[in-house]
Amino acid sequence: MNVLIVNINAVYGTSDKPLPFKRGAAMSVLESVSKAFIRIENGIIAEVGSMKDLDTHADVTINAENGMVLPSWCDSHTHIVYAGTREQEFIFRIKGMSYEEIAARGGGILNSAERMQNVDEDQLYDQSLLRLNEVMRMGTGAIEIKSGYGLSYESELKMLRVIKRLKEQSLIPIKATFLGAHAIPKIYQSDRQGYMTLLTEKMLPKIVDEGLADYIDVFCDKGYFTVEETDTILEYGSKYGLKAKIHANELANSGGVQIGVKHNALSVDHLEMIEEKEVQALLASETIPTVLPSCSFYLNIKYAPARMMIDSGLGIAMATDYNPGSTPSGNIPFLINLACNKMKLMPEEAINAITINGAYAMEMNQELGSIEVGKVANLIITKPMDSLAFIPYAFGSNHIHKVIVRGKEI
Ligand code: NIG
Ligand code: FE
Repeated sequence: MNVLIVNINAVYGTSDKPLPFKRGAAMSVLESVSKAFIRIENGIIAEVGSMKDLDTHADVTINAENGMVLPSWCDSHTHIVYAGTREQEFIFRIKGMSYEEIAARGGGILNSAERMQNVDEDQLYDQSLLRLNEVMRMGTGAIEIKSGYGLSYESELKMLRVIKRLKEQSLIPIKATFLGAHAIPKIYQSDRQGYMTLLTEKMLPKIVDEGLADYIDVFCDKGYFTVEETDTILEYGSKYGLKAKIHANELANSGGVQIGVKHNALSVDHLEMIEEKEVQALLASETIPTVLPSCSFYLNIKYAPARMMIDSGLGIAMATDYNPGSTPSGNIPFLINLACNKMKLMPEEAINAITINGAYAMEMNQELGSIEVGKVANLIITKPMDSLAFIPYAFGSNHIHKVIVRGKEI
């Protein structure tokens, strides 16, 4: 089927050559074509041209009504499969408790793990599908989803099977990450080694055998998993063919970045507490640092030094971290506002971080993340606006006119 999107004010994120990901100064460049049309054939971008040269017809014509067109958001770090919400912890934090204090009293990840034990797979699927549909309507066109609220053999498998069902049903591509090392479960608090053994020798082989995960993740941070434990888990992961995407340096300068780089991780994520030496380690690697500013906003913690990272020559990705405890939101226009307002990124840098660089952080940059001939037509058509800066500027508004997935309006 042929689809034409016409009357586009400007198409952003175009490219005439394949992009791996954008680093340093290149992040401030968002190539564009003004007064444009896009032709899509069977869900794939076939042509980006100027309206004045348009001379073809199509089976379906979508009128952009002078809005902008962007590649869909590529959200490379989420935990949208979870059972029940945790607004009570939000109230505790308003009253002055910290995220770590709440966790120490059995809240946090362990609270979600308890709920996970008591939910059946269909209920979990239904809740998670609602969240997936919600973010798709807000323009997310590719997403990574982690396990990590199971923390037992049965519950981790339950989460990963739900992610697999979402993958099979969803119109947008999904990557699955095994995050059994999200926290030490209650019953293993005095037997860490016992949990390590369960994770590496029982869960991992089964998960790989069933083809349930694309990546492996560890929460390598103060109070969670040590550098040594992370090293062991990633070693096992790589033995089973799973690349790493790890949580590092959120709560302390944990050594997580260096251990991620040592294992050639696809990405290291969070990075609120990194310094110059972590930047140097990343510069010498192919690992993409990923920042999660809505987590900083919601927990009232430091923001990752994204400006310094880009100025040092790094390419960064940005993701929502959508989860019940530290970021109950998958709203990317708001994320872009935080990147600009709090991290001092230019709108173009923020958009590159959540499109092409986010796609790289899920190994999807060949198919998604920019508007190139041959790539999948997952696109956002905005309401009319004078410039892209309007997206982070008018941060509470809904900027979406239409969302296109595989060439079709959803
Ligand atoms: O990425 N930092 C670790 N894990 C999640 C939060 C988990 C939770 O509180 O439920 C995160 O922020
Ligand atoms: Fe996370």
